[in-house]
Amino acid sequence: MATTRRNVNKGPKKEGTRRGGAPVAKGKPVRDDRHAAKRADKRHKVPTATEPEITPERPDIGTIQWFPGHMARTRRKIQESLSLVDAVVEIVDARIPLSSRNPELDSLTGRKPRLVILNKADLADEAATRRWISYFRAQGMAALAVDCKSGRGCNQFQPALRELLRDLVEKWESKGANRAIRAMVVGIPNVGKSSFINRMNRGGKAKVEDRPGVTRMNQWFVLESGTQLLDTPGVLWPKFEDQTVAMRLAFTGAIKDQVLNLEEMACELLQVLRQGYAPLLCERYKLSEPLLESCWDLLQEIGRKRGMLLSGGAIDTERASIMLLDEYRGGKLGRITLEFPDREVTADA
Ligand code: G4P
Repeated sequence: MATTRRNVNKGPKKEGTRRGGAPVAKGKPVRDDRHAAKRADKRHKVPTATEPEITPERPDIGTIQWFPGHMARTRRKIQESLSLVDAVVEIVDARIPLSSRNPELDSLTGRKPRLVILNKADLADEAATRRWISYFRAQGMAALAVDCKSGRGCNQFQPALRELLRDLVEKWESKGANRAIRAMVVGIPNVGKSSFINRMNRGGKAKVEDRPGVTRMNQWFVLESGTQLLDTPGVLWPKFEDQTVAMRLAFTGAIKDQVLNLEEMACELLQVLRQGYAPLLCERYKLSEPLLESCWDLLQEIGRKRGMLLSGGAIDTERASIMLLDEYRGGKLGRITLEFPDREVTADA
């Protein structure tokens, strides 16, 4: 997803808030005043029209509204459609397998067998993805890593689904019933649900059906193998109230950049990357270890290395932020996972 520049707003920073007016998150480190002073200094020195600004009124991640009202409708639709399917196929982003889940899905789908698809595996750390697969399997779900862009791993989908439903399929076969497997595909926006369905449906067809008990037309995709996929009736949202989750969703591009402070996000991303992936940062931006302690200084150094200067010689940190986020999202820094099963306290999410 391409990141775009936005207009900047001006105004005073409110007391006791982060930039953007959002309350300071509990337990979250706040960059120290030295950096705020530097930013203020930079604004003072380079009063040009294109100058990147910290924008106090622009909402930051903590203030994003994800229209939770939609959830009630989605909940109803999923529950109505559940009796039509044998399994639930949950698509998650392999870089953030927990943050990209909907916390209500477990209660919504009950004991319906679940296959978790870790999509965008091409962008995630392979070793971490393996650990995530074990994690989901330990929770009684089937799990599979795929890359819908290249199709890698997608041919494992049918066998994994059949294995998950082995007892049921054997029961059908013993009764002589020639029944196709039906599965509902769910996932929060941007995890690659459409890409997955399109990839699986190559050579297959889409049909819109009305079935008894379903208030709205459901879209079914009939794959070449005969398996039927039901596109989710409704939109699922992630656990947006959690700052860490929201930040990870923002890093991967699931939250639209227009509502975010790019420089703040870039600094937060650098903070995460330096902890587990410093060598990748060094390689991509020709930095040397140890990395600068302050992420704001690190962002400036990256901008400097890339020659992102404003007239007057100051570093164009907004441009550097856009570049960093785009390069992370596009996998240019390497394969990077942002959360790991054994470090997550939100394992119940
Ligand atoms: P959604 O239905 O869940 O909202 O997601 P969608 O399929 O629209 O995919 C969201 C973005 O993720 C798209 O990029 C898509 O190309 C990309 N994507 C999906 N699966 C994979 C994958 O396995 N690997 C990688 N690297 N990317 C994947 P976009 O920038 O929004 O659009 P575009 O690049 O396709 O034009």
